[in-house]
Order: sequence, then structure tokens, then C-alpha cells
Amino acid sequence: MTFWSDLGRACSILRDGGVVGMPTETVYGLAACVNRPEAISALFRIKERPLFDPLIVHIAEVSDICKVAADFPQAASNLARQFWPGPLTIVLPKTPALNPAITAGLDTVAVRMPRHPLALRLIRRAGCPLAAPSANRFGRTSPTSAADVRKEFDDAVFVVDGGPCEVGLESTVVELRELNGKTEVDILRPGVITEEMISDVLGRTLVFRVQSAKSPGHLSKHYQPAIPLVVIEEKIFPPNAQTCCYIAEQLNLKACAYAELVLEDEAVLAARSLYRKLRDLATSGCDFIALRKDSRTNSGAWEAIWDRVGRAASLHL
Ligand code: TXA
Ligand code: MG
Repeated sequence: MTFWSDLGRACSILRDGGVVGMPTETVYGLAACVNRPEAISALFRIKERPLFDPLIVHIAEVSDICKVAADFPQAASNLARQFWPGPLTIVLPKTPALNPAITAGLDTVAVRMPRHPLALRLIRRAGCPLAAPSANRFGRTSPTSAADVRKEFDDAVFVVDGGPCEVGLESTVVELRELNGKTEVDILRPGVITEEMISDVLGRTLVFRVQSAKSPGHLSKHYQPAIPLVVIEEKIFPPNAQTCCYIAEQLNLKACAYAELVLEDEAVLAARSLYRKLRDLATSGCDFIALRKDSRTNSGAWEAIWDRVGRAASLHL
């Protein structure tokens, strides 16, 4: 089947109030039209996602902002001009007309314009913005290929195959506020659009460190692979037999064979392959995945990588 017939089929499913797997440059999403309440309910049901966790709305034109947001302040517009289409999500005041289930009852809506060409085409052809969480069951590793999505939902969801994801980690989520005539930025979820890149665009604007407590769905345990991930300090890596026994005991494992997760040296490549490797190692027949916590820098995209690793891990030693 070609991309074009896949897109046609996905569009008719969306227009009929269904959900489809959508490729984006970050991770695959599970998409539904924002104006189809039954499809929005289906998203939460299929993902087993709690209703308190709001969805990101995806648009293909900046002019579509007014369909979901009540205001688009200058600073937000400056960020959009620089980073859209791309892996930046901006939290804005919502329009009263937008289905409150999408925003989990909040008076704000998270919006982004993805840069995957098939995502942009799908949104345009569907004729309305698409709400799309990552296409994984709640709390699990986000999918970075169409096959991952099909497997996650036992082939029950039609997926547009856009190839492997270029970025590999979910978008950076930011919220802006005006304080004494100055704009302040909270990074609610770190990503490959970094604090430094945001500061470069907004000039002397204050950029606050990650405030994930303000993002209802960014929980301390998230992105977890099917077998436990254990992050182990450099000085006790590789773990000896005694450490392995301790890990097995702590995690209630039957045995203590592990597979090592090795990250690429370069942040962009490490981000791209992190979830792929976690998924592959989870089916390698081992009891747990071990990652050496090395002393690499925390700056730039590494911050997002360590954020996801930290939440995916069941144990830190
Ligand atoms: O890269 C991405 O952002 C992917 C692709 C598919 O676009 N989507 C994604 O969606 O990661 P999801 O649902 O897995 O994560 C959405 C995050 C959650 O942490 C949620 O709490 C936060 O965005 N969020 C959504 N609306 C929000 C709001 N109004 N205020 C604060 N945080 C919000
Ligand atoms: Mg997610």
C-alpha cells in the first residue's frame, strides 16, 4: 500500500469519528479530530489513559490556532515562527468551544505543529486539528515506528507508516506568562528544543527550569519498557553477581540476567534511538535492562534524554 492510499484511508477513519496512528518527527501519535467527542473518548479508552491527563492538539497552519486557542501572545508567536513546524508544544489559553475532555478540564490547551510531511498532510486532509497523545498504552515507552504502534494495540488501530521517527523523543512543552511586562517561560517537559534555544529566540526573557509538576501527565513513572530498566552508577558498573542478586530481589525478578542499554555519544543520535533500543532489549529474553549512568553533560538534548531515562527506570543504584 502506498503512502497516498494510507492517507486516504486514515482520513476517512478520522472523518467517521475514529482514531488512527499518525507519524510525527518526535514519536507516533494516536490521532482523533478535535471536534469528534466520541473519537476523543476512544483515545483515552484505547490508551487506558487517565482523564486528568490532557492531550496535545496538532495543527498544520498557524492560522488554525484560533480554532483551539483564545489568545496567541507575541512571545508564543515568536517561538512558533522559529520552531514550527517542529518538536515544540506551546500551552495557550483554550477557546471555550474546544471539547473540555481534550484539556482534562484545564483552561489551557497544548498546541504544536509537527514537521513530519505525512502528519501535516493528514491534518490538512482531515480538515480539522488532531488531538494526539503518543501512541502507547499509558505509562509505557512511546513508539517510534508504525510496527511499534500496531503491536502496542494488537493491530486494532490503523497506522499511517511514515518510517522511523527522526527525533525519537516527545516534544518540548512550554507555558508562557506575563509578569510585570516581562515574559516568563516554564519548561513543562524537556525535549530537543532546549532552554538555550528558547532563550535565544526570546532574548532577555526569563526561562525557568523544568516544572513538570505543572504538567498533569508528566508523572515520575512513565515511558516504562516491558521489563525493568535499572540505572547504575558508573563506579559499580558492570554490576557484579551480588549487585545483580540485589536488583532481582528489589524488583521481584525470577532471575538476574541483564542486557545493557548503550546510548550513542551524540545527543541527537542517542535521543533518536533510545526508545527503539528500550523496546528491542525488552524482548531480548533478559530479566532487566541495565544502563550505566555516566558523567556526560546534562545540557542540551541530554537533559531530555536523562529525564526520560529517569522516569522509565524502575530502580536507580
Ligand atoms: O511529541 C509529542 O508531543 C507527541 C507527538 C505525538 O506529538 N505527543 C505526546 O503526547 O507526547 P502525550 O499525550 O504523550 O504528552 C502530552 C504532554 C503530557 O505531559 C501532558 O500533561 C502535557 O503534554 N499537556 C497537555 N496539555 C497540557 C496543558 N494544557 N497544560 C500543561 N501540560 C499539558
Ligand atoms: Mg505520552
